[in-house]
Order: sequence, then structure tokens, then C-alpha cells
Amino acid sequence: GKVRAPTHIISTISDDRGEEPCYAGVPMSSIVEQGYGVGDVISLLWFKRSLPRYCTHFIEICIMLCADHGPCVSGAHNTIVTARAGKDLVSSLVSGLLTIGPRFGGAIDDAARYFKDAYDRGLTAYEFVEDMKKKGIRVPGIGHRIKRGDNRDKRVELLQRFARTHFPSVKYMEYAVEVETYTLSKSNNLVLNVDGAIGSLFLDLLAGSGMFTKQEIDEIVQIGYLNGLFVLARSIGLIGHTFDQKRLKQPLYRHPWEDVLYTK
Ligand code: ACO
Ligand code: LMR
Repeated sequence: GKVRAPTHIISTISDDRGEEPCYAGVPMSSIVEQGYGVGDVISLLWFKRSLPRYCTHFIEICIMLCADHGPCVSGAHNTIVTARAGKDLVSSLVSGLLTIGPRFGGAIDDAARYFKDAYDRGLTAYEFVEDMKKKGIRVPGIGHRIKRGDNRDKRVELLQRFARTHFPSVKYMEYAVEVETYTLSKSNNLVLNVDGAIGSLFLDLLAGSGMFTKQEIDEIVQIGYLNGLFVLARSIGLIGHTFDQKRLKQPLYRHPWEDVLYTK
């Protein structure tokens, strides 16, 4: 019989060997002819299945809403400084991307993990938040540098409105809102932020779509797919900031002495 040479790589999401490339078995011509969008492509390449339109639309809304948040946030700041140091597009982009993490944009997976665990264990918002406090862990998905209880994040509201209209269930989101109600009673800056909104709503998407087994949802949350949404989205803005600085022919950035506290 045939002897199969051992392979060094296993790949399951795409195949470029035929007449046309396929994403999770779907040929490129179908993707184009059937009018698939970027949400469908993400579904195929990340989740290896076609998701219903309301899910792919939700993914696209996340991408659009997180594409940029002005020049002052950590990622854009790094990208701008790097572009002004004369570096190329990829260097400027990754310099900004490297700031994405537990404090900035990269709290989506942890928000999903902690909200899911607390909800599934039946903890009240009070028990969850106080438990986190005892452990000395900030609640991921809660808190913002400039958003406040009386100046909420419009992006969160838009995501919630979409999900309330289109998702079969928003139980994790409602739980996140209960957590926010409690944290806001402690301090006005402890709003549900965009990471927390996406983290909780993606749990609702995964559980409510009927397209994933319980085991698959646990795997997605455990591996941490969801920060990928912010990384992908913000790349759009960071690339824009790079072009902007180059177009404006901005010189090397040097931080002003007056803005540094020199002390011993
Ligand atoms: N959970 C509990 N308490 C909090 C939280 C939180 N998530 N955030 C702030 N606090 C409280 C703490 O008591 C904190 O004091 P501490 O430093 O002793 O812990 C106090 O508020 C003041 O915190 P600051 O550091 O002044 O808050 P800041 O405005 O700098 O932080 C930040 C904003 C980084 C977003 C913070 O709220 C946080 O770490 N949140 C969790 C991570 C997160 O969700 N990041 C995503 C933000 S959205 C985005 O980047 C797109
Ligand atoms: C963002 O999307 O970059 C922000 O929520 C962070 C910020 O500080 O505005």
C-alpha cells in the first residue's frame, strides 16, 4: 500500500492546493459570488464554520467600533511615535499592537473567562466583584480612563442594542450589566468598557447561536480567541495613524521635559 510521509505541519483552516483557495472548505469564488463579508471570513478562518448573518454582522460591528479611538490611546501613541522616528509601516503597526494587553484592548478574553465562570457558578454581581477584590484582581472589562457613569461609552451601548434586537439570549451581557451596576455604585469610573461588552456578548453569541458545543465554547474561551477581534480591528486605525504621520511629514517626536517629573 501507499506509505504516507510524515508531515511537520497540520493545518485545518485553509487550502491553497486546488484551482482556487478555500477557507474552511468554502472556495473563494463562493465567498465572492455569495457576497460574504469580512465577518464571514473571520467565521471561516477562526471558527471553521459559517455562522448566521446576525453573528457575522455582530463581528463586523465589533471590528468597525474598535478600529480606532483617537491618537491619545496607548496603541496609537506608540504607532505615531514610531512612524515619526522614520520607521516603516509594519514597525509602526506592531509598535502600537504591542500595547494591547490586560489594561488596553486585550481584556476581552479575561472578561469572557471571569464573567462566564462567575455566571455559570451562580455568583451574584456583589459576590463576584467582592471575590475579585479579595484576590486583588481588577475585574477585566470594567473601568475606563475617560468614560464615566454619566458619560458612558457609546460603543458599548451600540453593541448592546444590536444584541438585544438580534441575539436569542443576552444572559451573559445582562450579568455584565449587573456587575457594572454594582461597580458603578462603588466608583463612577467603573463602567462596563468595550472589552467587557464584547467579552460578555461573545459568550452570548457562542451559546445562543446553537453552532458550538459546550466543549467548543470552553476551548474558545480557554485558548483566548476574542482579543483577536481588538487586534484585528485596531490594526485598521494604527495603519491609518502611520499614513497620517507620513502624510503630515511629522518630525522625530521628543517628549517635552516639562511633562516629566525628574526626581530622586
Ligand atoms: N476592577 C476593580 N477595580 C478597579 C478596576 C477594575 N477593573 N479598575 C479600576 N479599579 C479601581 C481600583 O480600586 C483602582 O485602584 P488600584 O490601583 O488600587 O487597583 C482605582 O479604581 C483607580 O484605578 P486607576 O488605575 O486610576 O484607573 P485607570 O483609569 O487608570 O484604569 C483601566 C483604567 C486600566 C481600564 C482599569 O479600569 C482596568 O485595569 N480595568 C480592567 C482592564 C480592562 O478592562 N481594560 C480594558 C479597557 S477598555 C480598552 O482598552 C479598549
Ligand atoms: C480604546 O478603544 O482605545 C479606548 O477605549 C481606550 C481609551 O483610553 O480611550
